[in-house]
Amino acid sequence: MDASVILKNKDKNNIFNIGELLTIGKTLLRKNGNSNSELESILLLSYLLNKEKSDLFLNMSLPVSLSRTIQYHKWIRKRIDGMPIQYITGFQNFMGLEFSISEGVFIPRAETEILVERVIAIIEMMQKKDGLLFLDLGVGSGVIPITICSYFQERGIPVNFFAVDISETAIELARQNAQKYNCQHHINFFQGRLFEPLQKLKQIIRFDGIISNPPYISTAEWGKLPDEIRLFEPAKALLGGEKGIDYYEKITLESPAFLKPNGFLALEIGHQQKNDILRILTDNTDFQENIITFKDYYQQDRGIIAFKNC
Ligand SMILES: C[S@@+](CC[C@H](N)C(=O)[O-])C[C@H]1O[C@@H](n2cnc3c(N)ncnc32)[C@H](O)[C@@H]1O
Repeated sequence: MDASVILKNKDKNNIFNIGELLTIGKTLLRKNGNSNSELESILLLSYLLNKEKSDLFLNMSLPVSLSRTIQYHKWIRKRIDGMPIQYITGFQNFMGLEFSISEGVFIPRAETEILVERVIAIIEMMQKKDGLLFLDLGVGSGVIPITICSYFQERGIPVNFFAVDISETAIELARQNAQKYNCQHHINFFQGRLFEPLQKLKQIIRFDGIISNPPYISTAEWGKLPDEIRLFEPAKALLGGEKGIDYYEKITLESPAFLKPNGFLALEIGHQQKNDILRILTDNTDFQENIITFKDYYQQDRGIIAFKNC
């Protein structure tokens, strides 16, 4: 049944049921040009009611309270206005963990899961895992250190992190997420620019690995990004200078001073940046010659891992 028919037939005092709300949500989204209206109407309602999608289908005739109905309508409107789903629901799943997300903080992407998987594999191969210390530059919502910390915590291996971000909002959110996954005692958060907060410490800290998914959108790419990203996500989490490689230059230059011998530098990269970043890394004599590169689920270049000389 169409949303307008349902709305017309409704008695003012009546409340809608799950099935009706899904139809209304789907219809409004579709009429406003959303090509994924069915899935998104379900996703929004399942978050709002805190129910699995399958529970929605099994309970189509269950009435929904008026306050939740109004909220659902507000969420649908926000989505029509282009706001990313994650900012509406306040959540994003990353490697099976549910992270809180808020406006002003970068929405974690599935591509970054590949970087995290590679880093976990490298740590697994390290002979001595106890007392390892890593650095995440540009921590955002905290997905990188929290997922790694939580993975090793489940296996009884404490892994520690320093995490830096220029955004106070991101640091605050990452702290909350760390608490949720019981990693708060294993991650030291610092607000500041890249290595600056570490340079201010009394002693030099050296890490077993430095990980970063820095801003890497070039000036040319910025204009071509969908409105959903360009108008809603923080520009400072995305823009990486004219060619998008400014952060790789800075991080490559400064990281050897903060890495232990054989320590690694693991970077997520833009799909057209592999050659530029390989050149930046191979020009730096502090890194070993063998550098690992990897692709994402779409077979596009997505990451680089280099090891410091002994
Ligand atoms: C692409 S986001 C990655 C966030 C998170 N690591 C993830 O993968 O979801 C880049 C992050 O770098 C932060 N950032 C930008 N410039 C920075 C700087 N100069 N120093 C530290 N962090 C910075 C942004 O605030 C943002 O959180």
